[in-house]
Amino acid sequence: MIPRMPNHPQNNPALLARSLSSVWHPCSQMKHYEDFPLLPIARGGGAWLYDYDNRRYLDAVSSWWVNLFGHCNPRINAAIGDQLGKLEHAMLAGFTHEPVVQLSERLRELAPPGLGHCFYASDGASATEIALKMSAHHWRNSGQPGKTQFISLENSYHGETLGALSVTDVALFRDAYGALIRQQATVPSPDWRKAAAGENAERYALRCADALELHLQQHHAQLAAFIIEPLVQGAAGMAMYHPVYLRRARQLCDEYRVHLIADEIAVGMGRTGTMFACEQSPPPQPAPSQALPRKERGSGITPDFLLLSKGISGGYLPLSVVMTRDAIYQSFYRDETASGFLHSHSYTGNPLACRAALATLEIFAHDNVLAANRGKADYLNEISIPLREHDAVRNWRNTGMIWAFEVETTQRDFAQRCFALALEHEVLLRPIGNTIYFMPPYIISKLEMDLLVNRTLHIVNELS
Ligand SMILES: Cc1ncc(COP(=O)(O)O)c(C=O)c1O
Repeated sequence: MIPRMPNHPQNNPALLARSLSSVWHPCSQMKHYEDFPLLPIARGGGAWLYDYDNRRYLDAVSSWWVNLFGHCNPRINAAIGDQLGKLEHAMLAGFTHEPVVQLSERLRELAPPGLGHCFYASDGASATEIALKMSAHHWRNSGQPGKTQFISLENSYHGETLGALSVTDVALFRDAYGALIRQQATVPSPDWRKAAAGENAERYALRCADALELHLQQHHAQLAAFIIEPLVQGAAGMAMYHPVYLRRARQLCDEYRVHLIADEIAVGMGRTGTMFACEQSPPPQPAPSQALPRKERGSGITPDFLLLSKGISGGYLPLSVVMTRDAIYQSFYRDETASGFLHSHSYTGNPLACRAALATLEIFAHDNVLAANRGKADYLNEISIPLREHDAVRNWRNTGMIWAFEVETTQRDFAQRCFALALEHEVLLRPIGNTIYFMPPYIISKLEMDLLVNRTLHIVNELS
């Protein structure tokens, strides 16, 4: 007999009332739900979410940037179903299983070269914690126990557990916990919106890299790692920057012996147009006498740690992974227990989540998703000309399958008003301040892109 869900009335108001009386919702001032009610979701399919009145909402933010191939994707459903009949979970300390091994092998093939081992957890913030701990522990194992500080970019976001908050530069999320957090330094963000008049994105990124160099010169002896969100700083309002910064950051971290942590939790898994954003770093500029033909120069960088989560399971199950450079792994490989990485989470490497991730990678390969996304991005850019040329729209920008712009507005509570109005127009948008962004699932169709852009144009007209 299949255990049934208790039989409650299935309608929007009933679920809202029960949720408010029993669930503490994330990233929320709960009282605000008095004016801006929660959205009850009854089911999902493709790029759409549906409530109990069968009203539909186009999920233009991929349910907090996690969903890649639509809700209730039949192929991912089938993979999880198959795994359910074999093994739902087994602890990973002292045990192993096929899905976690296969996923680690596949990720090693796909990731920048030299990232040989995968360490698993369940969410993005845990991946950040793991990378910070591993970095400092590596230096300790290597006879440099004084390297315990970290730096991040201005307006960075790496999660909200205490360690992750220490490298997250968002006052709203940090201030209440200031006394609990170990303060870490930030360096200027290469976000091109901050460039001086007449300065292009590349030159501004290089100027920011100079500031990074100065910081490294002064503090490298205490620094374990520099953590960045490659190409796009999501929570900063989809701040985008020139890839030359990645190359300079890699060179400088090598020069000053500081780890580079690439937090690709939001931007990995094809989101920026390549499987991993780090691949887009331009090749190093050789001295003129050593110049090689372009095709012989490799592009892309290998970070010391690569963090993945969100889209890795197709948006199905909590899964995160920290991929590490081989030399770092080797520094932990000793006889003494205490030199090992003794970090754990109960659900590390959960087989169901790994199968969802393997199915996700299979879809990437089988459907040639990165090429298809290039066509989709071109189409969305083409149809959005009236939106980007709107009088109230500023800083239109696009990287891969991420679009963002600011709206010039005098509306107070712009983000909440925009969210509510968008729902009336069947679109799920979740602005950050006055920044509207699109981060749709990759299965979005042309018709759905038309709808998204046209409805957003109406919303901007109403709110500007
Ligand atoms: C770049 C980045 N790092 C870390 C995190 C934290 O991930 P999680 O919310 O799964 O803890 C996020 C979440 O948005 C993120 O965007």
